[in-house]
Amino acid sequence: MVTSSTPSDRPRRPFSGLHRTLAAAAVGLLGAATALVAVTAPADAAASTLGAAAAQSGRYFGTAISANKLSDSTYTTIANREFNMVTAENEMKIDATEPQQGQFNFTQADRVYNWAVQNGKQVRGHTLAWHSQQPGWMQSLSGSALRQAMINHINGVMAHYKGKIYQWDVVNEAFDDGTGGRRDSNLQRTGNDWIEVAFRTARAADPAAKLCYNDYNIDNWTWAKTQGVYNMVKDFKQRGVPIDCVGLQGHFNSGSAYNPNFRTTLQSFAALGVDVAITELDVEGASPTTYANIVNDCLAVSRCVGITVWGVRDSDSWRSSQTPLLFDGNGNKKPAYTSVLNALNGGTTNPSPTPTPTPTPTPTPTPTPTPTPGGGGCSATLQTVNSWPGGFQTEVTVRAGGSAVNGWTVKWTWPSGQSISSLWNGTQSVSGSSVTVRNAPYNGSIAAGSSTTFGFTGNGSAATPTATCTSP
Ligand code: G3I
Repeated sequence: MVTSSTPSDRPRRPFSGLHRTLAAAAVGLLGAATALVAVTAPADAAASTLGAAAAQSGRYFGTAISANKLSDSTYTTIANREFNMVTAENEMKIDATEPQQGQFNFTQADRVYNWAVQNGKQVRGHTLAWHSQQPGWMQSLSGSALRQAMINHINGVMAHYKGKIYQWDVVNEAFDDGTGGRRDSNLQRTGNDWIEVAFRTARAADPAAKLCYNDYNIDNWTWAKTQGVYNMVKDFKQRGVPIDCVGLQGHFNSGSAYNPNFRTTLQSFAALGVDVAITELDVEGASPTTYANIVNDCLAVSRCVGITVWGVRDSDSWRSSQTPLLFDGNGNKKPAYTSVLNALNGGTTNPSPTPTPTPTPTPTPTPTPTPTPGGGGCSATLQTVNSWPGGFQTEVTVRAGGSAVNGWTVKWTWPSGQSISSLWNGTQSVSGSSVTVRNAPYNGSIAAGSSTTFGFTGNGSAATPTATCTSP
């Protein structure tokens, strides 16, 4: 057991540990939790699939899945073999899940979800609040009726998948391409606070899910849209609006080309205290070099938690004529596939791009790394990530020592009357000023030397008391 209050910015990794592949026991329908089983590979073996290769650095490699292709065995064979994160390409969108107001339909969404978890994969939820793919009834709403409908929709969908989704794209594509301001939409016209209302609603609906803002054309650091989203995230973090991650879609083509300053963009968002993920990657022409550069950009940023390509084969792509994916229409691996796999295996290098000097954000000070406990057991560190008059937000990093832990308990005592108002990624019990937090069902297993996090918002003055961590 080691105690410390040294801050750490390490994100929770969906897949952590060196040279591990991840499998999960088949589970039943939505009532069952995903079980994660670590399989050890030889220490010097290069992984042979994208998911396993990404897992070596604690990241995931995912794809978009369409329910109507799950009967195509070529498609499912590739998807099952290569990827360990799944996003429903259309099935969790508003028009699919609430076709009539107040009448939710998860038939297609559950087909994708169940295929994913039955094959040992985690799921990104996409998407809860968006100007596009709204059902007709929502398109015709405005003002407070639309605002309430958005809240009801978030609550309805998140309740169905409570505790089962790794990250939710809470709000999608809310910024304007040209100006960097907000995109005009019926949601935007309900008031500028609609995005933060969506995030606060989402946090309350499923405290375990990581909450993302997701957009395209925010890859290039010099673009006004990138700066617009950056400033919103910075403002949210400063004001304690619950946001955990930014999804950079990564639809690269001739009109929106990859720029090496993408790494600066990832680093800059991460420095605000959020995870970043590449959520819908496709590259017109599938240049192996561009794909490798993108993978290396993610690998260079510790809070870049994973990459999702937007489809399996070129023929599955929303822009198939641009042949932007890693498998051709026959399911054969393309040169870009090999390039991505090599990069994930550490086999390619990419010269560090020169950061674009302007505009320069104010970086968040880099926290001191948390020491890894030498023996068994675990350590826990509290870090204040936000504070405001009368309240604060804390991230707690739980790190395994020299041995893997299977279950953990973190305890501390508040120094001056603080209390927890909302906690996620753990279960709490409180006795006076003493707090005990145990792992959630899905994050109790931590590989040796790896870590997970939980978080909470608190009442009172921000405090980082020394915490103890024990494992059975
Ligand atoms: O399934 C019906 C089919 O029955 C019907 O005959 C046909 C006629 O148009 O439509 C089919 O549905 C289409 C669906 O894709 C499945 O192919 C919809 O019309 C079409 O609008 C829908 O397009 C999706 C698009 O989002 C809608 O905005 C794409 O598949 C999907 O890849 C794309 O994904 C978006 C992300 O959600 C957000 N970021 C951008 C990305 C690419 O546009």
